[in-house]
Amino acid sequence: MNVKNLRLFFGLPLPHRQAEAIDRWRRELGLDGRPVARRNLHLTLAFLGSHPLERLAELQCLGEGIRGNAFEMKLDRLETGRHGLVCLGTGQAPEALLQLAGELQRLLRGAGYALDERAFWPHLTLARDCRNPPLPASPPDFRWRAERFVLFHSTSDAHGTLYRPLFHWPLVMPER
Ligand code: 2AM
Repeated sequence: MNVKNLRLFFGLPLPHRQAEAIDRWRRELGLDGRPVARRNLHLTLAFLGSHPLERLAELQCLGEGIRGNAFEMKLDRLETGRHGLVCLGTGQAPEALLQLAGELQRLLRGAGYALDERAFWPHLTLARDCRNPPLPASPPDFRWRAERFVLFHSTSDAHGTLYRPLFHWPLVMPER
């Protein structure tokens, strides 16, 4: 990697099938903003901003130390946010998701990372800068089993933005 600072975030990747299904459903919304490329669809757990390459080893250790449970992720709500954000949200965030995001944020703050002060809002961004409200032909109902989380590197060039997975860690079956 020929850069000094990397724009980084922890997130949940989306299985290919769900990304395709969401992309198909999204086309019916008539969105007039900037869609997130299908390959980049994800759910952010913690956004770090830009950090030197040298901090990657520390972040790798931090991810390694997390023992999160696998869970079913369900996206069943169409939501909107600031700056014309249109996204998918969830009517009920799984406890394991909230624990994972909370643990990541606790460890990252402990390691000196300044994170967004706002409460964690689980959402999958579909498009930004939309002016008109989305018009769904059918209600969203997407689900998958979240079995890993990822440290992504966000890169942008003339071809667009790409979220590259750098490291990933498993989420395990909860113990009974
Ligand atoms: P968004 O989808 O709500 O815009 C990569 O840029 C990911 O990190 C996106 O999912 C984006 O969230 C999130 N992100 C970007 N800037 C952020 C910030 N300042 N605080 C929290 N999340 C951010």
